[in-house]
Amino acid sequence: MTKNLVVIGSQWGDEGKGKIVDLLTERAAAVVRFQGGHNAGHTLVVEGKTTILHLIPSGILHSNVMSYIANGVVLHLPSLFSEAEELMAAGVSVWEKLRVSNACALIMPSHIALDKAREAAKGAGKIGTTCRGIGPCYEDKIARRGLRLADLQNADNFRTRAEELLNYHNFLLKNFYQAETVDVAATIDEWLSFAPKIAPIICDTTLALEEHRKRGENILYEGAQGAMLDIDHGTYPFVTSSSTASGGAATGTGTGIHKLDFVLAITKAYTTRVGSGPFPTELNNDIGEHLGRVGREIGASTGRKRRTGWIDLPALRRAALNSCFDGICITKLDVLDELATIKICTNYRLDGKIIDIAPLGADELSRCEAIYEEIDGWQSSTIGIREYEKLPEKARQYLEKLEKILEIPIVIISTGPDREETIERKVLLS
Ligand code: IMP
Repeated sequence: MTKNLVVIGSQWGDEGKGKIVDLLTERAAAVVRFQGGHNAGHTLVVEGKTTILHLIPSGILHSNVMSYIANGVVLHLPSLFSEAEELMAAGVSVWEKLRVSNACALIMPSHIALDKAREAAKGAGKIGTTCRGIGPCYEDKIARRGLRLADLQNADNFRTRAEELLNYHNFLLKNFYQAETVDVAATIDEWLSFAPKIAPIICDTTLALEEHRKRGENILYEGAQGAMLDIDHGTYPFVTSSSTASGGAATGTGTGIHKLDFVLAITKAYTTRVGSGPFPTELNNDIGEHLGRVGREIGASTGRKRRTGWIDLPALRRAALNSCFDGICITKLDVLDELATIKICTNYRLDGKIIDIAPLGADELSRCEAIYEEIDGWQSSTIGIREYEKLPEKARQYLEKLEKILEIPIVIISTGPDREETIERKVLLS
């Protein structure tokens, strides 16, 4: 029985997690974000209305579900407030249903300034970050000089620690990057003014989740970004700064690993990537253009055009190994509908050898050449189909080939942006 479900992206992010989390949250009592920050962009379409969430869990749209932002998340309070206000304007009672861990690391304006300054200094070698301050905030957390939400509760202590941190940031900004510094006093005052507003929703999220578990309720762990952007297992250095693999759900929430029952890997029927870094199946041609246009591949957070390519099984094998996928959810199948032929990257050629799993890190991966198997396209619409048997035969063959090669069942197929446009072959959190 699945009571604790982890939903992560299996590629380089933007696989369509928001919709699936939103759909499955209907059956959960709690949904929790465990890593990343407002660099995520989860697009939900409910009854034709589009909502984009960056920080608040996608389950917030359900009235009887508690949403949690757990310890592993980096928190930019102004973004949280503006997202909450937008949702409240649409009638969502955010303050009643959202709880935030007192251990969340705080993203300060100087983290954002440092992120931008570092990217600018790197020039062509830049990571292509979202410039949201994510990396610099995680750096300070690991270096044990970061500020946490709990620190806001003691103004004197916060002032001392924040002053030290912001002065250090300003030193780097001014002397190393020749960039603009931040106003230390004004920033501290502004952040302290947030304290009373956030206080009512601060909690020990680990204990709160345990209470749900003790009551026998379902919990959904909502990943952000994708497994190949994992800080330890992704295409380093072209990664994000958190644990996007399924293990992040345990560390980011303080949940013991044995309590997590099922890892659902959200996987696009093709591949996209934003930012820099190797991408062996990238298509810089008309087909890539077609995938980008039909799939509307524009970043939900940054508005950047996503790079596009064929599905990449060696990369998925690496992600599956790291995250132990129990099932796959295929999204955006319809984007392939019009194509006469579809390619599946089954292996790479690296330095004259054929390999079937992506090597670790960016250097080796950038030398990999994709080896493809070609199949006929189905060339008919799959949009909105709700039963597996009603999919065109060749579309089923495509899915079954992926299942067979990866040896992982495809349990959900998304056939459109709306909640209803879904085929569920296994009912999770039932
Ligand atoms: P950062 O997370 O802003 O530091 O960016 C690091 C890398 O992760 C860059 O390549 C970003 O484009 C990528 N990234 C961060 N968030 C997302 C996301 O939500 N979807 C896809 N890529 C992302």
